[in-house]
Amino acid sequence: MKHLIDPLDFTVEETLELLELADQIALDSAPYAMACRGKILATLFYEPSTRTRLSFESAMLRLGGSVLGFASAESSSVSKGESVADTIRAVSCYADICAMRHPKEGAPLVASHYSGIPVINAGDGGHQHPTQTLTDLMTIRRKRGRLDQMTIGLCGDLKFGRTVHSLMKSLVRFGDIRFVLISPEELRVPDYIMQDVLLAHSAPYREVETLEEAMPELDILYMTRIQKERFFNEEDYVRLKDSCILTADKLRAAKSDLAVLHPLPRVNEITAEVDNDPRAAYFEQAQNGVYVRMALILKLLEVAAC
Ligand code: CP
Repeated sequence: MKHLIDPLDFTVEETLELLELADQIALDSAPYAMACRGKILATLFYEPSTRTRLSFESAMLRLGGSVLGFASAESSSVSKGESVADTIRAVSCYADICAMRHPKEGAPLVASHYSGIPVINAGDGGHQHPTQTLTDLMTIRRKRGRLDQMTIGLCGDLKFGRTVHSLMKSLVRFGDIRFVLISPEELRVPDYIMQDVLLAHSAPYREVETLEEAMPELDILYMTRIQKERFFNEEDYVRLKDSCILTADKLRAAKSDLAVLHPLPRVNEITAEVDNDPRAAYFEQAQNGVYVRMALILKLLEVAAC
């Protein structure tokens, strides 16, 4: 039984296979409409979500399966003190696969040790978000036709942003990627990502504090929200929240074929006028989230098209 807890749980070859399948589904989903008939997906969300939970549910419904689950810890027996281990043991009796989001880093990994069904990490604290990474990779590949030989700017909360950590971890394996890390000093990439990902792969990178310093060289700009919920005090959040804001004016210095990605939700880090720029790819990215999650469910349940 295979779980997806960390982006490295799939090799480069497996990741590319999954992206191929997601592309096929995007082109024509009809052959997959009944592939998961009789199967049940459980969504166990201990933290708020719109895209991840609903795109997982949409994915399973589009495969002909069913869904059950909870959208907050308060509406489950977790509020009575139940452990993740006991919850997943019970859910294994009711469902065939589960997606779990949890505020504590490592909770989905713990669940996988006690689970009778495949566990998918749908985001654990400030740690990892591997299905967002698959969504990001699919979007980058569709925009650029490849996953190597490019300069990617990662902007915003690089300290707490789990989508950034997962994306870097996966992308360094594809080769010839140059990273420009755009953030205020206090929100820089954590040391363990710097050591284990960038330095371990000798990936070229530079750190800057403003979008203007990076814009002309970028092929991909990956914007992120400042993660208010992970700050220890409100004062720091207020001081840092407007550090990097993408405007139409700043985009004037960018390449004409730049793609702007954002895992969403956004707060104010991309102004609404940017949405009308053909380089804005973040809603297409949200759509791709359904296709990659359909492909992932098929792969983990080992089911093929009907
Ligand atoms: N991208 C993402 O994880 O969005 P949600 O928090 O809405 O699931």
